[in-house]
Amino acid sequence: MSNKEKSAKLVQKYEDKLRCPICEEQVQVVELRSLQCANNHSFDFAKQGYINMLMRSVKTPYDKALFASRQEVIRETNLYTKLHASVADILKTHLTKEITILDAGCGEGSHLEQIMKKSDLNNMLGIGIDIAKEGVLRAAKHYHHAIWLVGDLANAPLANQSCNAIINILSPANYQEFKRILSEEGIVVKVIPGKNYFRELREALYADDKQTYSNEDTVELFENQFQLIEHMHVQTTESISEQELEHLINMSPLAWNIEEGEKDQLRKHGIDQLTIDLEILVGKKSDR
Ligand SMILES: C[S@@+](CC[C@H](N)C(=O)[O-])C[C@H]1O[C@@H](n2cnc3c(N)ncnc32)[C@H](O)[C@@H]1O
Ligand SMILES: [Zn+2]
Repeated sequence: MSNKEKSAKLVQKYEDKLRCPICEEQVQVVELRSLQCANNHSFDFAKQGYINMLMRSVKTPYDKALFASRQEVIRETNLYTKLHASVADILKTHLTKEITILDAGCGEGSHLEQIMKKSDLNNMLGIGIDIAKEGVLRAAKHYHHAIWLVGDLANAPLANQSCNAIINILSPANYQEFKRILSEEGIVVKVIPGKNYFRELREALYADDKQTYSNEDTVELFENQFQLIEHMHVQTTESISEQELEHLINMSPLAWNIEEGEKDQLRKHGIDQLTIDLEILVGKKSDR
């Protein structure tokens, strides 16, 4: 069976979790080829197995090379291992029965894949959504145990209360949509950079720049929308190779503002270790 047919079978099993982004009606898998609603809006499965549910094509600055580097770093280094273990523990602590976890802004899918593996919970369905097709395409190509969707978080093709966990890692959020999609007892796990995130790389690039990054606004916004039930800090410093440095330079939106000359300087002087500093906010729907 092809990748496309395998994904279509998986989606068929869980089609009640999705909805049409145009008319909000239920959708059904048709002939293991497309997803259609009662009003005949139709979305084809790509050969890699993902479904593009965007209503118009969107050009994003996140390209193929950035996702290739992100995948290399997230999958092949230990920089995010602690994060994956912590999120898996959070899921195991707060959820017991069947889990449907949505990765909102999943990029190339490695976080969701690793977290699902580490959670080791039976009856877990993973759904990854991102507006950047290049990310989702890569996710679908490499990871076959989840449903991968190209879609906009502002109009997510997910049914009401279809998920009991939403993870949102280093990505923008849409809290109104998160609340609609989340079941009553569900949790949101938002991961944001702490002040030492990518410290050595930023210091090498901005030696005179004394600006300190603050995530207070993001935390406050989250607390206004959800009842904060946990706020954790995950930090690790790992040594990195030359090849890993290359991927680190290219995986981050930091790269968009770096001139080629500065990148060359960075390669020449190198950095031999990197700090990953992340905060994890866990929220529940509040009664307010
Ligand atoms: C910094 S990347 C993080 C990706 C992934 N979570 C990771 O950590 O590798 C931010 C992601 O948010 C996605 N994104 C931005 N706006 C979005 C939207 N409106 N709907 C869905 N995804 C969005 C981008 O396409 C990008 O993949
Ligand atoms: Zn429709």
